[in-house]
Amino acid sequence: MKKTLTALAAGAFVAGLGLASTAFAQDYPTKPITVVVPFSAGGPTDTVARLVAEVMSADLGQQVVIQNVGGAGGTLGAGQVATAPNDGYTLLLHHIGMSTAPSLYRSLPYDPTTDFEPIGLITSVPMTLVARKDFEPSTLSELLEYIKANGENITYAHAGIGSASQLCGMLLMNALDTQMTTVPYQGAGPAMTDIIGGQIDMICDQTTNTTSQIQAGEVKAYAVTTPDRLSNLPDLPTTAEGGLELEIGVWHGLYAPAGTDAAIIARLEAALQAALANETVVSRFAELGTVPVSADEATPAALTETLTSQIALWKGVIEAAGVFAE
Ligand code: MLT
Repeated sequence: MKKTLTALAAGAFVAGLGLASTAFAQDYPTKPITVVVPFSAGGPTDTVARLVAEVMSADLGQQVVIQNVGGAGGTLGAGQVATAPNDGYTLLLHHIGMSTAPSLYRSLPYDPTTDFEPIGLITSVPMTLVARKDFEPSTLSELLEYIKANGENITYAHAGIGSASQLCGMLLMNALDTQMTTVPYQGAGPAMTDIIGGQIDMICDQTTNTTSQIQAGEVKAYAVTTPDRLSNLPDLPTTAEGGLELEIGVWHGLYAPAGTDAAIIARLEAALQAALANETVVSRFAELGTVPVSADEATPAALTETLTSQIALWKGVIEAAGVFAE
């Protein structure tokens, strides 16, 4: 008899937990949500995050606060979210670095495929080769010859091993079989400040960070890494036009820690889809050379598929490039 009562009590307890969890998820969110951006404020990832967060906040009825956690090419910030409480109040907005870091670091403080709940893709951002405005080369072909001739006398800025700027720089230096002097930053935001100030020679950076500087003549632009020219930068040739085989799109995704309740993930997915359909977001993204993904890509399944396929793709590229993990 005693055993039966114990079993009944245990069953009621577990059922109660389930009901409590469902009730918790149904009321979500009841307080502000933090979105960790694993790079400095004012950079391309931060720009995407703040545009999306503002509209998600309106949809969710709670503040969505951006927390910039720079360092180690985005892996510090990603690691912080991997071990955060899985209550839906700490999220990660990160980019292609989620798929390159596993091949660039011998031991990551997280597994991108098991330590997170994907919520959805956000956008894919083109990259541009830019330099300080008085840099000697004028065209992409002149730039490529100049790099080959001057190698380590040229300084190349990036946002750490695992960042998009480091990935693009690695591909560029491998294509030219020439090493430049690389200078790491906590994000492409501060790197751009030093390019504009003339302290650093060049960077390969996302249009969400370079468009306004190119249009203002604050930097010299050589090419965009997309198959076709961009409507917001029509005079900027593609890398292919300049004879450089280097195409890269920096895809971005939104994640929660593993184990986050499915109802919370669904609520966040709906808020993300609403943000990406918002006309202010769409028009601002267009000004910056990018477009939000469609609703069927702003989903856990689409982000999972992109993440796993990109991890495999970049593993092969990075190993072929002979780049050894940190
Ligand atoms: C940033 O937001 O600072 C950039 O995404 C850094 C990078 O990946 O190059």
